[in-house]
Amino acid sequence: MTGLWERHVLPRLVDRACRTPRVGRLRERVCAGLRDEVVEIGFGSGLNVAHYPPEVSRVLAVEPSDVAWRKALPRIDAARVDVRRSGLDGQRLDLPDDSADCALSTFTLCTIPDLPAALAELRRVLRPGGTLHFLEHGLAPTAGWRPGSAAWSRSRNGWWAAAT
Ligand SMILES: C[S@@+](CC[C@H](N)C(=O)[O-])C[C@H]1O[C@@H](n2cnc3c(N)ncnc32)[C@H](O)[C@@H]1O
Repeated sequence: MTGLWERHVLPRLVDRACRTPRVGRLRERVCAGLRDEVVEIGFGSGLNVAHYPPEVSRVLAVEPSDVAWRKALPRIDAARVDVRRSGLDGQRLDLPDDSADCALSTFTLCTIPDLPAALAELRRVLRPGGTLHFLEHGLAPTAGWRPGSAAWSRSRNGWWAAAT
């Protein structure tokens, strides 16, 4: 991870932008059904922690940004779940085969340069019958030029791509 933007600005921006009540409801949905040992790639500032179901016993968090990880620490401390940082790169997981019951990724698959490698790694570490829970953004169906429309989203691709 290089550059002032990636290291210092983006983690703070994501922490702000992705903790609205609306996104919180989506987090609740994507975390439903997680259980036992979970690997979460792109853990960020820990905004999913409050949504882990009680069936989750341990979370192996993969996150390259130290700034995001520091922001996550109070959320981890307040959680009942054992969360430990277990790597920096979803493309090369430092975890054994068949070692996780579930995998979680929110707004991260779009960030990882080699997505097939990251998905292959998740498949490798998931036990047979394990489940991948993911949440991603897509192009809005709304026409016209207003916040949230497809055209508005496209206009933001430039800075988001530069950021990730
Ligand atoms: C848009 S943020 C989402 C953070 C968090 N999942 C959330 O929902 O708030 C994307 C995250 O992916 C992380 N990331 C970037 N490259 C990564 C990689 N190769 N492996 C794992 N995580 C990565 C970033 O540091 C950032 O925390």
